[in-house]
Amino acid sequence: MENTFVSTSFEETREIANNLAKKLETGTTICLYGELAAGKTTFTQGLGHALGIQRLVSPTFLIMRQYPVTNHPVIKTLFHLDLYRLDSIDDIKAFDIEEIWSSPENLLVIEWPEKFAKNLPKKRFDIHFKANGENERQIIIHKHK
Ligand SMILES: Nc1ncnc2c1ncn2[C@@H]1O[C@H](COP(=O)(O)OP(=O)(O)OP(=O)(O)O)[C@@H](O)[C@H]1O
Ligand SMILES: [Mg+2]
Repeated sequence: MENTFVSTSFEETREIANNLAKKLETGTTICLYGELAAGKTTFTQGLGHALGIQRLVSPTFLIMRQYPVTNHPVIKTLFHLDLYRLDSIDDIKAFDIEEIWSSPENLLVIEWPEKFAKNLPKKRFDIHFKANGENERQIIIHKHK
């Protein structure tokens, strides 16, 4: 399955994410690809919104942030991981991310997943962002499995 959207505002990008979150199967990892300021964190905020998370900020300096989820029958925690600053596979593995994505109680969202390309879980969405101007973003959502 592949869907292409054109978003003309950050609110619209959040809304696209919000809609995806509502019909998301549990145990699916979300991988967000795209240049700096392409909209990956904005999209994650939309996912968070659907899960009752009001204030989600970029994890860049901390690498990973986690948020409790209280409005979903299965998902209990959203993990937001930003691999931008990590270079080695071993550094990434040290975050125990395989353990995180293996539990349906967790929703794992990864920015800069290309840093972990060969090791990503099979059950995932690959979402590509491309800036077409100051406020326009092309968003391609591809279900990997
Ligand atoms: N249509 C749009 N969708 C998403 N963001 C938009 C859009 N139009 C403008 N923006 C702006 O672009 C910026 C996107 O920033 P965001 O932090 O989401 O990017 P990012 O892909 O996470 O970057 P980084 O790799 O640095 O973490 C925000 O300032 C946002 O307001
Ligand atoms: Mg970001």
